[in-house]
Amino acid sequence: MTKTLDYQLGLVPYSRTTLVNKIKAQLSDHRFQHVLRVEQTAIDLAEHYGADVERASIAGLVHDYAKQRPDAEYRQLIQQEKFDPDLLNYGNGIWHGVVGAYLIEKELQIHDAAILNAVRRHTIGAPEMTTLDQILFVADFIEPGRDFPGVEAAREAADESLAAGVRYEVANTLQFLLARQQKIYPKTIATYNAWVAK
Ligand SMILES: [Fe+2]
Ligand SMILES: [Fe+2]
Repeated sequence: MTKTLDYQLGLVPYSRTTLVNKIKAQLSDHRFQHVLRVEQTAIDLAEHYGADVERASIAGLVHDYAKQRPDAEYRQLIQQEKFDPDLLNYGNGIWHGVVGAYLIEKELQIHDAAILNAVRRHTIGAPEMTTLDQILFVADFIEPGRDFPGVEAAREAADESLAAGVRYEVANTLQFLLARQQKIYPKTIATYNAWVAK
């Protein structure tokens, strides 16, 4: 079960229960359940790898906060807030991390740079990723509800090290996109290049 954490570091200006309710109000039940599993997986990884458990919990809870916003809202935000205009050539799968972090800061009043960066990077990764970035990236991929070819290998890689988990995920994601002849956001390729060599 998900632990009930009271956030001691002042990272969230209200209780965990309030945060959970705010997130629940934005998501389908299916996605909300995924979010809770990502939170727990992120907590487990943070405990295992000696990272900040509070930040892992919050990053897990908020990471898909903006996933169900309409494309039109994203398109407007990308232009209005001067995000990389190339983002307009991609879709929600990229936007809800890169642009979602903006909405999380604005609407949930979470200003912690480490948490916001982890959310920003959870869809495309980055050549350099902090421990928290890696934890969220991997937790999202291996949470217990995930069931795709290769998920067991991904879990084993994450047991070996966070870097091995990231490397596996980056390669798997790229293969998935190539197999479907989907367009690849250039930063995803930069992430791949940086991590396959690590
Ligand atoms: Fe996501
Ligand atoms: Fe997710």
